[in-house]
Amino acid sequence: MADASSAADLDALRQEALAALTGATDPQAVEAWRVAYLGRSGKVTQALRSVGAQPAEQRREAGAAANRVKARLEKALAVRSEELRSARLDALSDDAIDVSLPGRLAEIGSLHPSTRIMREICAIFERMGFQVVEGPEVEWDRYNFELLNIPKDHPARDMFDTFWIDGAADEDGRSTMLLRTHTSPMQARVMEERRPPIRVVVPGKVYRYEATDATHESQFHQVEGLVVDEGVSFANLKHTLYEFARQLFGGERKVRFRCDYFPFVEPGVDVAIDCFKCDGDDARCRICRGSGWIEIMGAGMVHPQVLRNVGYDPDRYTGFAFGMGPERIAMLKYGIEDIRLFLGNDLRFLSQF
Ligand code: DAH
Repeated sequence: MADASSAADLDALRQEALAALTGATDPQAVEAWRVAYLGRSGKVTQALRSVGAQPAEQRREAGAAANRVKARLEKALAVRSEELRSARLDALSDDAIDVSLPGRLAEIGSLHPSTRIMREICAIFERMGFQVVEGPEVEWDRYNFELLNIPKDHPARDMFDTFWIDGAADEDGRSTMLLRTHTSPMQARVMEERRPPIRVVVPGKVYRYEATDATHESQFHQVEGLVVDEGVSFANLKHTLYEFARQLFGGERKVRFRCDYFPFVEPGVDVAIDCFKCDGDDARCRICRGSGWIEIMGAGMVHPQVLRNVGYDPDRYTGFAFGMGPERIAMLKYGIEDIRLFLGNDLRFLSQF
C-alpha cells in the first residue's frame, strides 16, 4: 500500500481487515490475522509508521485516523476471539459435560479412631518385643470357651452374650460355632501352633449379643496379649502393663492391680490407672466418677488348666495374659461419650481424627 495513511486507504484497510477476520474460523487463523494487521510489521502498524512521513499539517489528523482504525480492529479481534471460544465450549458441551465447571475435590480420608488406637496399642507392645497376630472372627466353642476353662454350662458363660451360628452342632444339638466374644481364643490357638517362648498381641473384632447403649455395642474390638515361657511371673505382668499404661497415658500414671475373676487366669486382676482427668480430686469427674481410678483391662497368670488343655506342662511353663477394649481406651483418651459413635458412620465424628 503506497500511501496507506490517506483517509481512503485507511478506510479500505479497515474494511479489508474486518472482512478477513470474519473468515478466520479457528484460533490459528485469528492469530495469523492479528500478526498480519496488528503485529510488529502488520499493515496497520506500517500505516501508523508512515504517518511520520506526511507533511506536518496532515500528520495530526492522519495519526488520529490510523489510531482509530487500530482501536477498531483490536476491538473486533477481542470480539472474534470470544465468539470462537464460546463456540468451542458449546461444541464440547454437546457431550453433556460442562467443561467450565470447577473440578470436585477428592476428600482425603483418615484412619478410623478404633484403627488408630489399636495401632498405637500394638506399637507399644511391638517395641517390647511382642509379635502381632490375628485370628478368625467365626470361632469354635472349643477355642472361645472350652480350652479357656469355660466348660459347657459353666456359669462364666453368662459373662458373654453370644451370637451362635447355625451349621455345626454337638450331640445335644447345641451350636458349636459362634462369633468370637473376645480375642482370648487366640491364646489357645497360638499355644497349640507354637512352642514357648510366646509373646504375642492379638488385635481384632469381637461380637456380643447385647442391647446397645452408650457403653455397649454388639461389635467392637479387643487387643489380647499373651506371654508364655519358663519362669514368667506376676512381676513380669506388672512391669509390662505398667510400661504400657505409661506409654499410652503418660509417664506420671499410677497403675492399680485388683483381684478379679476370669476363668482362664489365676490369679486374675483388673488393671486400672489413676484418673488423668482429675487425679482423683473431683468427686463428680465424668471419667473416673469420683473414684480416682479408671479400669483399662483384665489380666492374670494363665490358668494351669488352660496350659494343660493345649498340652503344656504347667510345672515347666507359666505365662500371663491380658485383654483390653480399644474403643473404651479411645473413649477415655479422646473424651468420646458414646461407643455407638464408632460404628455410626457419621463424618462429623470420624473427621475429627
Ligand atoms: N477376654 C476377657 C473379656 O473379654 C478379657 C480378658 C481378661 C482377657 C483377662 C485376658 C485376661 O487375657 O487375662 O472380658
